Amino acid sequence: MTNLETGFTMDTSSIKFGRGMTHETGFEAQRLGCRRVMIVTDRRLAELEPVANVVASLKAADIDAVVYDGVRTEPTDASFRDAIVFAHQGEFDGYVAVGGGSSIDTAKAANLYATYPTDLLAYVNAPIGRGEPVPGPLKPLIAVPTTAGTGSETTGVAIFDLVEMGAKTGIAHRALRPVVGIVDPGNTSTLPPMVAACSGFDVLCHGLESYTALPFDQREAAESPGARPSYQGSNPISDIWSLRAVEMVAENMVRAVTDPSDTEARERMLLAATFAGVGFGNAGVHLCHGMSYPVSGQVKEFCPNGYPQDELLVPHGMSVVLNAPAVFRWTARANPERHLRMAQAMGADVSDVDPADAGDLLAERVIGLMRATGMPNGLSAIGYGEDDIDRLVEGTLPQHRVTKISPRPIDADALRELFRNSMTLW
Ligand SMILES: NC(=O)c1ccc[n+]([C@@H]2O[C@H](COP(=O)([O-])OP(=O)(O)OC[C@H]3O[C@@H](n4cnc5c(N)ncnc54)[C@H](O)[C@@H]3O)[C@@H](O)[C@H]2O)c1
Repeated sequence: MTNLETGFTMDTSSIKFGRGMTHETGFEAQRLGCRRVMIVTDRRLAELEPVANVVASLKAADIDAVVYDGVRTEPTDASFRDAIVFAHQGEFDGYVAVGGGSSIDTAKAANLYATYPTDLLAYVNAPIGRGEPVPGPLKPLIAVPTTAGTGSETTGVAIFDLVEMGAKTGIAHRALRPVVGIVDPGNTSTLPPMVAACSGFDVLCHGLESYTALPFDQREAAESPGARPSYQGSNPISDIWSLRAVEMVAENMVRAVTDPSDTEARERMLLAATFAGVGFGNAGVHLCHGMSYPVSGQVKEFCPNGYPQDELLVPHGMSVVLNAPAVFRWTARANPERHLRMAQAMGADVSDVDPADAGDLLAERVIGLMRATGMPNGLSAIGYGEDDIDRLVEGTLPQHRVTKISPRPIDADALRELFRNSMTLW
């Protein structure tokens, strides 16, 4: 008989939230004993205020700061390696990531591999990589998110596209978690509407998936405390953060996307991103994310407005939400009450709803938000068709980190059906 898990852990970064908090980056770095830090960012952000403010704050605290602006939007193994080489040569005693998830995740990888050098696959999740545990503590990482957002400032996860595999994968270990997240609403005012929409759907799905994930005590027990996965399944503490995040997204997302001058809505979305990060960073996400990894990795002919136009890419949040309606229709049978609770958090009246309709109701709510914020109508609208389904399934099956906490056990046939049902959504 399977030995089931009996406990869960709750980890998060220390969070500093509020307008103007970016100016305290130098204070935080000094407090952590840093003398020479690598600022990890991308080329667009290097020209914008958040990076300028971080540089000024570090300088005022007498900290030697070197800007690395080589982060790729939606990082790859090659772009991670580039940052790792820079980190290794720079002999830094701390890291400051300024940007979206791409910058924060790249900083986590740079810190990890410069501190404990080895080949890239060593710490990558098994069975794609070898899943070796991180040998010890890393250098302090301060994360300053500029999207709302991945919640990467709160998580011990770094995601990248393993190009030869045609899918994303990641490294997950609590040692990767930033020591401090400086969450400053002033830093998201320049987000283009499409980036605000895609990163907003990432927040939504973090909340929905972590709340509906397999409960932690229905997961197979870890062999040892050190082997307990970062993504442990839904649990009573994550539930609180995830639920509140979904409510905040439902209340603010359309305004935050369609009216960049709505500072209140943008601020609430940023707060929601951090809430969701605390929730999913411990509970985990499941099939919408698992299926998104090949959708991003096998992109053929797509690059939306608002993103750098020199590379083809499906933004992470878009690749996740395109699968969401089909996934929730399918997973609802495992725990209809939780799916109903999520539909209610998104504004649905659930008083007379038959629990058998929970998946449809939740899917309709998600689709309503997609239509109001200019998302494409399913995978077919970003270049995928019936002929791609087998490769998409192949890229999802090894994503055990997330597929294992699906509320219903998944196999290739079920995934095929889910991808087929994600081709056109309305
Ligand atoms: N580690 C985690 O826990 C975690 C969770 C979810 C997603 N991710 C990963 O994060 C990445 C996506 O990150 P993201 O959605 O935050 O976007 P991003 O970092 O990829 O940025 C998207 C684009 O928006 C630009 N941008 C960012 N902030 C801006 C601002 N304030 N003003 C103007 N332009 C701005 C960037 O320059 C970039 O071109 C993916 O690789 C995804 O897999 C990681």
